[in-house]
Amino acid sequence: MNNMIELARKFGTPLYLLFEEEILKSCEKFKNSIEKNFGKNAMILYASKALSCVGLLKIIKNQNLGLDVSSGGELFTAIKAGFPMDRVTFHGNNKSEDELKMAMEYSVSRIVVDNNEEFENLLNLSKKYGRKINILFRINPEVDANTHKSVNTGKVDSKFGITFDQARKNIRKILEQNLVIFKGFHSHIGSQIFDCKDFQKEAETMVRFCSDIKNEFGFESEELNLGGGFGVKYTDENPEIEIEDFISSICLVLKKECGRNKMNMPFIYFEPGRSIVAKAGVTLYTVGCVKKTKNKTYVIVDGSMNDNPRFVLYGAKYKIENISEKNKSSNFKEVVLSGRCCESGDIISDGCFLKNPKRGDIIAVYCTGAYNFSMSSNYNKIPKPPIVLVTKNGEAKVIVRRQSYEDLISCEID
Ligand SMILES: Cc1ncc(COP(=O)(O)O)c(C=O)c1O
Repeated sequence: MNNMIELARKFGTPLYLLFEEEILKSCEKFKNSIEKNFGKNAMILYASKALSCVGLLKIIKNQNLGLDVSSGGELFTAIKAGFPMDRVTFHGNNKSEDELKMAMEYSVSRIVVDNNEEFENLLNLSKKYGRKINILFRINPEVDANTHKSVNTGKVDSKFGITFDQARKNIRKILEQNLVIFKGFHSHIGSQIFDCKDFQKEAETMVRFCSDIKNEFGFESEELNLGGGFGVKYTDENPEIEIEDFISSICLVLKKECGRNKMNMPFIYFEPGRSIVAKAGVTLYTVGCVKKTKNKTYVIVDGSMNDNPRFVLYGAKYKIENISEKNKSSNFKEVVLSGRCCESGDIISDGCFLKNPKRGDIIAVYCTGAYNFSMSSNYNKIPKPPIVLVTKNGEAKVIVRRQSYEDLISCEID
């Protein structure tokens, strides 16, 4: 990462860098872990909501991973990347009829049904088009994972998935009508989770539910998708998760519960997003001004909550460095790293330590590969930064170009 200043000079800032080697490393970790624990009976689906662009999806495709898409736009990006549709699972908690039709038309491998209305809609579409689609039901497992409330998705009253009882009613309908191919269940308890016990609890709950369904309906779930959510170490406050340890302890719980309930182990899916791409990303900014107030020092950069809204959303923390300051003996100053938008809340860090920051310095914010570009916006009509992929051979390749002012008004009609 030594040539980041050169890259900033060449491509301008703000700039998202994406290091291919890191992506390949995390793909390998996941692939090796499932191979070791499940053999051929499991698959990794990259959750493309973390970061979706054609250049990245081609890398994921070549790693033989599957893909989770959760909108027509994410599906479109996968199609453009030439992603094999038999490795694509379609998610979303309010899929439109057009999105469902698109998923059917392109023959995605699985649709994960989130709610009763969607289920009815899907049954009607299956009837209308004479197409039988493979489905899983997203269940709310009522597991309250220890994470930020905005990314806790599997506790009681979550907006995602259906209750155990609603699932029972739908299964009855499926078995009576035989309009879709029912494969099994999905659950996802949230994101940025560090306690393996949360995942174990989810696995145990879901196997027990599969067993209840087997006893009640004689239906044996072929598949179980346990979602993603593996935590990433952004700063020293976070532990480092060993993916291999997590997958093997989840596998142990699955084996034990399947054994206890006299069930075959279903085919297992995991859907990591953040843990595949977060560490591969670094965002570079240029300092525009350093402003002192009564009690604070603001270092204001040319980026903003537009390219990284995660502090605003979750108070997210990052490792941040002034990579222009070469003087080893210069002192660290506690500063607020602030964006250029017209919002007092437009902050990237409300307290980080930077060496002697001054106008023109390049600031690196690490671990920005996930949920930065994918959550970016054009507030204040600020163009989005480009993504430059640093390939495993060290070449720098633009995979998303910088937006122009023309791009900003390209959908406007006067
Ligand atoms: C259904 C589903 N699967 C997978 C993920 C990926 O989660 P993460 O990026 O934390 O691995 C998400 C994101 O919250 C999700 O909603």
